[in-house]
Amino acid sequence: MARLRLAVLISGRGSNLQALIDACAAADYPAEIVLAVSNEPDAAGLERARRAGIPAETIDHREFSDRKAFERALDWPLAGADVGLVCLAGFMRLLTPWFVERWRDRLINIHPSLLPAFPGLDTHARALAAGVRIAGCTVHFVRPAMDRGPIVVQAAVSVEEGDDAASLAARVLAAEHRCLPLAVRLIAEGRVRVVGERCEIAGAAAPFSPLISPSPSGCG
Ligand code: GAR
Repeated sequence: MARLRLAVLISGRGSNLQALIDACAAADYPAEIVLAVSNEPDAAGLERARRAGIPAETIDHREFSDRKAFERALDWPLAGADVGLVCLAGFMRLLTPWFVERWRDRLINIHPSLLPAFPGLDTHARALAAGVRIAGCTVHFVRPAMDRGPIVVQAAVSVEEGDDAASLAARVLAAEHRCLPLAVRLIAEGRVRVVGERCEIAGAAAPFSPLISPSPSGCG
């Protein structure tokens, strides 16, 4: 079967892009990255893509008069590369309804919280300030409202005593690196259907146990 053609949009480090590059290296992975685009010229992720032999380009939003012009420039190479799914992987620009609707149900985002909790920036600091004991990440289809849309995959991680935003972010990031390739695989296998703004996933297995934080063992 033909592999799903992915474009990955980034703004920085690109560790989630790397997770997808690594997943796509497996012969039986049902997707391939055909293009990486950054809106930031010095994004480290661009080099990751080039090292993997993936065409990588910068489309600097500052060079455009408005969001619409920027997004038209973004859309052009995606359409030209016959992309089937666009992944926002640390892409830190808000997209207008024009772009979002054009790629409706073919555009996913990864966000480092258990949405709908803590959308937007400074996610981890806000989660810690709220005193949550469980944090996580979400891969979802994109809708015009920021960090909203049908949820494909989530992972939960515990918040630990003494965590700061950096240590929590690192724990969540490790989970992100598993969730994004999983979400792409499920979509590429045709197992994800958006029904009434929720995702139905064919053949999804339930997780084997709940994550309880703090762990009951040791608290008895
Ligand atoms: C990731 O934690 C991603 O979830 C987050 O930016 C980081 C990018 O890291 N995205 C957002 O906060 C979007 N709302 P990466 O460049 O190493 O993949």
